[in-house]
This record gives sequence, C-alpha cells and structure tokens, in this order.
Amino acid sequence: MEDKKLIFLCGFMGCGKTTQGKKLAKALGYHFIDLDEYTANKYDKDITDIFQEFGEDEFRKIETTSLTECITDNMKTVIALGGGTPCFNNNIDLLKKSGTVVYLKMSADDLYKRLFKETAKRPLVANKETDELYVYIKDLLAKREVFYNQATISVDGNLYEVDEMKQLVSPKV
Ligand code: S3P
Repeated sequence: MEDKKLIFLCGFMGCGKTTQGKKLAKALGYHFIDLDEYTANKYDKDITDIFQEFGEDEFRKIETTSLTECITDNMKTVIALGGGTPCFNNNIDLLKKSGTVVYLKMSADDLYKRLFKETAKRPLVANKETDELYVYIKDLLAKREVFYNQATISVDGNLYEVDEMKQLVSPKV
C-alpha cells in the first residue's frame, strides 16, 4: 500500500471533489482520475444514463468495480470519488486501507447553493423542487457523514487551499 500513494477525495455532490482533486494532483505531480468519468468512459454513457438504465443498486455495484480497478491499476494518483462511493459495499474500508482519504466538508446550506443550479447533471437530485432539494441534501448529508467522517483528513471545502492540502497529505504519501 505504502508505495501505491493513492489519495481519495470524498464528499457530498457539488463539494468540489473533481476541481480540487485536479489541482492537488497537479501540485503533487500525480495522475488524476474522476471515478464517475472512469465509469462513464467504460460504459460509453453518461453517469445519469447508467443510473437510469441500470438503477441505483446496480450502479453501486458498477461503481465499486470501477473503484477496485482504479485502486489495482494505479500508483501516485488522486482519485475524485462519487458522492456516494464511500457509503456503499464497505467501500470506506477499502479506501482506508488503500490510501489517504480526504473529506471535503461543506454545510448543507453551502451544498444547496452550489447544487440547485445544476440538478439536471445529477440523477439523485434531478427534478427536485427548491424546498424538497434542501431537505433532501440535509437528510442525505447527515446519513453520509457517518462514512465521510471516517476519512483520514477532513478539510473545510470552502477554505481549501491546494498548498495546505499538499502539506497535509505529503507526510502520508
Ligand atoms: C452520486 C454522486 C455523483 C455520481 C452519482 C451518484 C451520489 O457524483 O456518482 O450521480 O450518490 O452522491 P458527484 O458527487 O461527483 O456528483
């Protein structure tokens, strides 16, 4: 595990995993993988289409397979996970034993502000009305934090600085 040097970015939909993951990978001189993009390329379909076609249960199996492949096939890589990745199929245990897990923490209020403009891209929140969306985010975040809080490092997604993150992960990678 030590020499694989994998860093996983986890957190709720819309917290900035892909954007910050790319910056961190660049700063560290690591490769970058977006897990959703990996799965979409594998199936040659958007995540929304995979979700709709196969349903959520099957999507979670597909997601775990993609995660396992990314872990097996890569070294020195920052991997941006999907919002639900750590919360299914004991993926959190696999993540913790395979590398450093970083939680990009954000409040339900901030997530709502970021998500309400772009619900269409995300199957779990597509077609939700304003009030319904806020309650959904709050409830789901509370459930998912049980998993996110098991990350190796927790950082405020609003205050994220790539140099600081580089320092935080460096002794561990
Ligand atoms: C999901 C988040 C999405 C994607 C899928 C399911 C979730 O990724 O994996 O739509 O369960 O929270 P992002 O967190 O990148 O939006």
